[in-house]
This record gives sequence, C-alpha cells and structure tokens, in this order.
Amino acid sequence: KNSTKPLNLFEYEKLAVECLSQMALDYYASGAWDEVTLRDNRAAFERYKLRPRILVDVSKRNLATHILSQPIQMPLLIAPMAFQCLACPEGEIATARAARSSGVGMVLSTLSTKSIEEVATVCDRVAAALQHRSHSPALQWFQLYIHKDRGLTRALVERAYAAGYKALCLTVDAPVLGRRERDRHNEFALPPGLQLANLGNISGLNIPHQEGESGLFTYFAQQLDPAVTWKDLEWLQSLSPLPLVLKGILRGDDAVRAVEYGAKAIVVSNHGGRQLDGAIASLDALVEVVKAVDGGAEILIDGGIRRGTDILKALALGAKAVLVGRPILWGLAVAGEAGVAHVIELLRDELDVAMALSGCASLEDVDSTVTSDQ
Ligand code: FNR
Repeated sequence: KNSTKPLNLFEYEKLAVECLSQMALDYYASGAWDEVTLRDNRAAFERYKLRPRILVDVSKRNLATHILSQPIQMPLLIAPMAFQCLACPEGEIATARAARSSGVGMVLSTLSTKSIEEVATVCDRVAAALQHRSHSPALQWFQLYIHKDRGLTRALVERAYAAGYKALCLTVDAPVLGRRERDRHNEFALPPGLQLANLGNISGLNIPHQEGESGLFTYFAQQLDPAVTWKDLEWLQSLSPLPLVLKGILRGDDAVRAVEYGAKAIVVSNHGGRQLDGAIASLDALVEVVKAVDGGAEILIDGGIRRGTDILKALALGAKAVLVGRPILWGLAVAGEAGVAHVIELLRDELDVAMALSGCASLEDVDSTVTSDQ
C-alpha cells in the first residue's frame, strides 16, 4: 500500500524487522562486542554540520560521477554483504538488478549466496533492456577474502575477471572475524537450501553449525588466512589486470602505504562496526586519510550512511563516493529488487534536495567548506 510505503531508510529498517528471521536479523544488524563503533558511525555524521551557501542557481542539478573511470548516476555503491538470500530468495541477483537499473555500483561479496557468474549475467540482461537509456557498463566489483587455500583464492579472482567485474576489492579489516555476540547466541549457520555460491559447489565449503559459536566465525578461523600482509598484494595484482581497492583502512599511514603498493581506491571503513569494536568512526578517519593520500587514490567511505545529508558530508570531507550496507538489506527484505531500488531512490532524492539547499548544483561544488565539525 502506498500509504505505508517507507519514507526513509529508518522506516525500511523498522519494516524489515518484521520480515526477517531472528537469526537473519541479528546477523544483518549486529556489530561486534558492545557495538560502540556501530553507534559511533552514526553519531559521527550527526556531529558534523552543514554550511549552506546561498543564492546559487541550483535549478539544474547533476549527481553523476565516475569511480575508477566508470560512470555512475550518483556517488553511491552497494557495499559487499554476505548471504543476501537470507533477505529474499533472489538475494544478490535482486540487488544487482536494482543497482543496474538505478545506475549505482555494486560490490559482490566472496560469501554471496548467488554466484559471481549468475550475478554478472543478470546485469547484462538488465543492461540490454535499458539500452535506450544507458550504454555504460555496470559498475560491478568483486570483494575478496583471501583464503588459506591460495589456489581457491586465485580461482575467485580469475572468475571475477572473466565475468566482467571491474575491480577487486580486498577487505583488509578481517584477519579474523569480529565477535558478534548475537550470532554466537544464535549459533549462526546458513539455513537449509542456502550455500556459499562461489565456494560450495567447487570446494564443498560451507558455514558449519557449531554449538555455542557463530558458524561464520568458525569459517573464518578455518578457511581465511590471518597471515596476509602487504607483501601479498603483489601476488594478488599478478592474478589479473583488475585495479585493486583496499577496504577497511582507518589510518592515514596505512592509506599512504596502500597507494605505494598499488591500490587505486581506498574504502575508509570499520566494516559497519562489525570487526574491532572501539575502532574510530569511519567519518572521523576520513579526514586523516584524505589528507595523507593527497589525491593519490580515490577515497570511498562506508559505515552509518542513512541520509542524503550523510552522503553530502562525506563528499565535503573528501570522499569521491560512499558505500551503503544494511539499508540495502532492509530494502531487500521488505520488497526484493523493488525495495532496493526504492532505498536508492530515497537516498538520491535526499542528496538532490540537500545539495540544492546547500548551494551545490553538481558534485564539483561540494567543497570542504560545505561541512564542519561544529
Ligand atoms: C557486511 N560487510 C562485509 N564486508 C565485506 O568486505 N565482505 C562481506 O562479506 C561483508 N558482509 C557483510 C554482511 C552484513 C550483513 C553486513 C551488515 C556487512 C561490511 C559492509 O561491506 C560495509 O562495510 C558495512 O555494512 C557498512 O556499514 P553500514 O552501511 O551497514 O552501516
């Protein structure tokens, strides 16, 4: 019903709570330990204020931009998130369709419940249907977790490249999984019928059920390599010509090193408060990273972005674009592909209005004076 259609992302969250199993909801919503960082990601956006510029002609607004030379209709990508089939049967396929038709980017998780190839093909089809509107290729990236089995890891990279993904987004804030206590209580495991679509068929890997433990925590401990260091980045870049994006950087010195080691973009992120609780809010880390990198790579940010004004603040502080996580899952749970498309539409509309009210007609007008921390 139209009258009950959510007006914003918070209303989507409220509705999604009704649509998800307790185990899925807890997995999606939780942060690590006391969830201090989870809350602080939001609080940081509320600490920064906007400084609107007046009497600017904002009659024509343009939100389009490029990330790693790929065009998108607004500075937004869908963050990589595992197990989207917990929200609706089409899972990552529905997300990819919505991203494609909305002209935003999408990062597919290594731990997706639809495969690299399935998600890529879907996008080809949406692109064909939209041909009259847009000829640009989909901005689809693949998020990588480096497994101890390097042959398996190599195969993931090669498949992502072959399927047409445009960048490799290595997550660097998860040598082990953060402790999410709700998942431990629930003994999180994938329900029957869902599997690790990129790994299960090929190597028989799955998320085990384990007493008193999150199955995902166990999976990380058994399969992922906590010994990965900067030296491995050379190997990783030798596997394909895909540009490297490092996701999960919170310090200027690490960001500088990332650029030295070849990263073309950096995602300032604390994994949505799901890894190291007590870590700095991503918005608070953004300024340091932008300053340190000094134009050497494109800077993206995620964590706590729920309003168009949050996007505007991130852009003013030097981000080229933002990634949005959980609200996409809320859209998916409430209405599948249409729900995701609507979540994106709400953010687009909010950013558009916020820019007009700040005296910004295009993203180039969003300079550092548009925001401040007081
Ligand atoms: C994630 N995130 C994540 N990151 C990643 O690199 N690989 C992954 O597989 C996942 N999986 C995942 C699952 C779920 C349910 C959530 C909520 C998050 C982290 C994600 O990419 C992103 O950093 C945060 O979600 C951003 O914060 P917000 O927008 O959710 O506040």
